[in-house]
Amino acid sequence: MTSPTRIVLDTTAAGPDVPRRLFGTFAEHMGRCVYDGISEPGHPTADADGFRGDVLDLVRELGATVVRYPGGNFVSGYRWEDGVGPRDQRPVRLDAAWHSTETNQVGLHEFADWAERAGLELMEAVNLGTRGVAEAADLLEYANHPGGTALSDQRRANGRDEPFGIRLWCLGNEMDGPWQIGHKTADEYGRLAAESARLMRFIDPDIELVAAGSSNHEMPTFGEWERTVLRHTAGLVDHISVHAYYEETPGDPASFLASGVGLDRYLTEVAGIIDEVRAEHGIDTPIGISVDEWNVWNQTRWNEVDKPRVFTGDWPVAPRLIEDDYTVTDAVVAGSLLITLLRRADRVSMANLAQLVNVIAPIRTEPGGPAWRQTTFFPFQLTAARATGRVVVPQITAGTIDTARYGAVDAVDAVATIDGDELSLFVAHRGLDAATPVELDLGVPATGVEALVLTIPEDGDRHTVNGADAQPVAPVSLPVDADGTSLRFTLPPLSWARLTARIAR
Ligand code: AHR
Repeated sequence: MTSPTRIVLDTTAAGPDVPRRLFGTFAEHMGRCVYDGISEPGHPTADADGFRGDVLDLVRELGATVVRYPGGNFVSGYRWEDGVGPRDQRPVRLDAAWHSTETNQVGLHEFADWAERAGLELMEAVNLGTRGVAEAADLLEYANHPGGTALSDQRRANGRDEPFGIRLWCLGNEMDGPWQIGHKTADEYGRLAAESARLMRFIDPDIELVAAGSSNHEMPTFGEWERTVLRHTAGLVDHISVHAYYEETPGDPASFLASGVGLDRYLTEVAGIIDEVRAEHGIDTPIGISVDEWNVWNQTRWNEVDKPRVFTGDWPVAPRLIEDDYTVTDAVVAGSLLITLLRRADRVSMANLAQLVNVIAPIRTEPGGPAWRQTTFFPFQLTAARATGRVVVPQITAGTIDTARYGAVDAVDAVATIDGDELSLFVAHRGLDAATPVELDLGVPATGVEALVLTIPEDGDRHTVNGADAQPVAPVSLPVDADGTSLRFTLPPLSWARLTARIAR
């Protein structure tokens, strides 16, 4: 055993409402996410439109609320018109973002129908890489205008009488990155985003717009990019994006396990810039942070090994790209990133786990074969299912872990939500060496206590993954002793858990 942990939760404390859009996901026309993932005509479970039934079932089980589409880097070279109208007349194009061939067999209509069936709100991105104000406005008119104009009538002729009613729109993607098609300076992008936003709002005043923030916290332009873009767009956009991917550096699992601390600091810095620009411009409306790409991603392998190979090969349709196999360690990190997102619900308005199927995804598939849950599926599913009501941040006294990247961090992190009499506690133990006994002090009696823990399975280690043939990593029941208003349980090393109970109000 290691140092005991004490978590004190004031169940009467106020807190921000849980933004249910925190449980968004992301489906890009990249690798085998859409083609050969969500859609696989000919698969034994595929429906008449070619969408896999087993994948749809798993997406529903995951319990996500939003899906961002169609990119990602892909969107910066995409012509949305290619993906509408009769499928047999759609053009085949080069996708320069991922050195692939895009067949356009899935486009707005097919994907929006699928998202509706999956119970996901569609968050659509416009191309501000190779295209601009006019094309963004055209797509919005096509999608959301009721009828009686060339574009809206084209939509109706293509089989969708009622507007799609898409409310959430991303103004481009990662335009600060030199890898991005149509990469821009902050001033160039800020002006373009502002003018696109202005016209889009004229067409549909009910939309919500997301300006593209930095691609990651380490970008040399981070901070100045946000400040400049917000100076152009404040008053015109509702959210600014944050993208955050984490990976383990060889020999430094402690820093990797503390990724939530890094995300928290990143969010604090972006929130500070939002406040600064809002004050400067006298803007009273809030600007939320849309963490519209977050996950664990082994980017070193992608940049050093896979990317050079992919970008010198031919232009395949739906190649295997960044299909990371997630370990138990990755799942604990994903779970603790969710804890951070919930704790920062004061500023984070939405978030998207990137991505949904096959591409750095909680769901994997084999062509003609099975679909399965990766390790990261579980913390997402268990959190999305119960994080409702308001967020309550507990006081935690725990041992500390020294990390190279973030200094000393608490070995245990936790956040709670309370919805009526339903309490949910989400807790991660980042220590690798020993279990920690936890005392949870609620101050009120709890009934119906249940807990599930995700940790290293018997006969496994922290690198154990779920694969097509065997899925050894799954949550198991965690015993909890109730003693008056205190609950006691033991968190194994490297674990993430969810405790649920009913509490007196
Ligand atoms: O999610 C994979 C890629 O990561 C996205 O296309 C891009 O936006 C980000 O760099």
